[in-house]
Amino acid sequence: MWEVHDFPVPADLAKTAHLDAAGYEKMYRESIENPEAFWAEHGKRIDWIKPYSKVKDVSYDASDLHIKWFHDGTLNAAANCLDRHLAERGDQVAIIWEGDDPKDDKKITYRELHRDVCKFSNALKDLGVKKGDRVTIYLPMIPEAAVAMLACARVGAVHSIVFGGFSPDALAGRIQDCDSNIVITADEGLRGGRTVPLKVNTDKALEDCPDCKTVVVVKRTGGSVNFVEGRDHWYHEICDAASDDCPPTEMGAEDPLFILYTSGSTGKPKGVLHTTGGYMVYASMTHQYVFDYRDGEIYWCTADVGWVTGHSYIIYGPLANGATTLMFEGVPNYPDFSRFWQVCDKHNVSIFYTAPTAIRALMREGDGPVKSTSRKSLRILGSVGEPINPEAWMWYHEVVGDKRCPIVDTWWQTETGGILITPLPGVTNLKPGSATLPFFGVEPIIVDGDNKVLEGATEGNLCIQDSWPGQMRTVYGDHERFIQTYFTTFPGRYFSGDGCRRDEDGYYWITGRVDDVINVSGHRMGTAEVESALVAHDKVAEAAVVGYPHDIKGQGIYAYVTLNAGLEPTEELRKELVTWVRKEIGPIASPDLIQWAPGLPKTRSGKIMRRILRKIAANEHDALGDTSTLAEPAVVDDLVENRMNK
Ligand code: WTA
Repeated sequence: MWEVHDFPVPADLAKTAHLDAAGYEKMYRESIENPEAFWAEHGKRIDWIKPYSKVKDVSYDASDLHIKWFHDGTLNAAANCLDRHLAERGDQVAIIWEGDDPKDDKKITYRELHRDVCKFSNALKDLGVKKGDRVTIYLPMIPEAAVAMLACARVGAVHSIVFGGFSPDALAGRIQDCDSNIVITADEGLRGGRTVPLKVNTDKALEDCPDCKTVVVVKRTGGSVNFVEGRDHWYHEICDAASDDCPPTEMGAEDPLFILYTSGSTGKPKGVLHTTGGYMVYASMTHQYVFDYRDGEIYWCTADVGWVTGHSYIIYGPLANGATTLMFEGVPNYPDFSRFWQVCDKHNVSIFYTAPTAIRALMREGDGPVKSTSRKSLRILGSVGEPINPEAWMWYHEVVGDKRCPIVDTWWQTETGGILITPLPGVTNLKPGSATLPFFGVEPIIVDGDNKVLEGATEGNLCIQDSWPGQMRTVYGDHERFIQTYFTTFPGRYFSGDGCRRDEDGYYWITGRVDDVINVSGHRMGTAEVESALVAHDKVAEAAVVGYPHDIKGQGIYAYVTLNAGLEPTEELRKELVTWVRKEIGPIASPDLIQWAPGLPKTRSGKIMRRILRKIAANEHDALGDTSTLAEPAVVDDLVENRMNK
């Protein structure tokens, strides 16, 4: 539909940019050649209680793996997001909240947010929360989610946010894994006009968490909920009763700020641990440079705070920079497909950051719902979560941005804390579909399967050569898993799990995961998690899950299921299994296609040959590759014959 071509920086944009291409290169080179000096300087963008004298102390050697930044400095993350702005911008809006219902909105100034956070901090202390305690947050996209995060940071507690779309089982697993004894939730969430039973889910989850003895409940909808005397507390009641004077707790740079669970290629989700100093420096610096953020602008990231994008680019980065950040409770298609653009017009949004899956879903509805809005306030568009296909990029640029707004395609991960590969607006020439060039301090390396560094234009596994301040520090409670997952496949480097191509201009093109992680609508999902949910069903003998190309979601979930002997596959059972997985993990894990598999293709040693299953799911069964190691070749013929994605 669109003719895809490159986009050199327009002259008028270049004029207003903070840097030019040569300036970027110079600053980038400095950051790589002398990271100590570079970060010693840029670390100052954060207010330290006790300034750091050490900058970087890192070893990627598996026998002595450690990552420390600014580690003799002390600070408080919430004070950086709130207190330090009060003198100059206390009356500036910190959060614009846009409710699910377009009639519902709210503006909260920095002074008000500071007061709310102080009150809730004191309330948490009254409930016994201490420095280092893990606090689970299971909230919808309401301002209280921001207040809860910042209150934890203020008192030195470690928050662990669980996305509101996760099931009671998934919530329970995360509460248990980090030994959290308090949950902050709401009566119900509200999305697209429908309620989400958060308190009911929490009650169910806590049946399996005997050590979790305190629940704070925000009244969002007013729906009637069960209340357990002595355990449950209304948020508004404990805040009303609390003092608004709460000095921030002095934290070491390497004290934990938060845990966020994310899927890996094996086993249960991992608790990715981020610490305070380096994370804050990196989140705030990337937010400023990548979005070319300028004082007074309205900035909107459409992610949920349950994902890392919400942590770094709705809360910590923007608030550390004194920005006005928009928080949206709803969905892109409610009440109609114009909603995103209506919100941009209503609140004068300058910078808009969303995911390719949303862009594709909106693109499918045609240009009408976009064109009916003005969008003249928009200046910069961003994309995150999965590769953006050039078609969607072009539509985003031409239709949404009226050819005026640069697109920043930002590559990063829960583990990286902030954006690693990205264009800078007004600085980097754009190529649709490419995340372009590394951010300051980031040295991407492409290696082959033997850890041999590939130079020039090439394709292979994407690693990062050295540490940056926003990097995760460990897997909570399992440092060995941290080392195994990220530093042993390619010793001496951080391995991202992504495949990547570098073109003749040195631009990076992410090609997707090279491990058993799939990316469904920008949500990371371990195929092993979906498989273990399926085999937990008493009629399922075996299951293998792979991703397949999906027009809207990027990847869909394709499950091959072998039933227990003697059971007949039925449509009813197919539906039952989908419902089962939704219950076990959450709606985002629902299989799109389930194929009944009398057998799975295995090697003679019993290993499932996923490569073959991926090909069949992608309808590429003509190119199955080498099948000579199959134990029973006939299995494959049956799977091809009965494939679901014809
Ligand atoms: C993918 C989300 C291509 C990638 C911030 C990565 C991307 C995974 C991009 C991390 C992008 C994220 N282009 N792929 N711009 N951004 N990804 O942890 O596969 O939820 O490894 O973090 O998303 O997903 P996560």
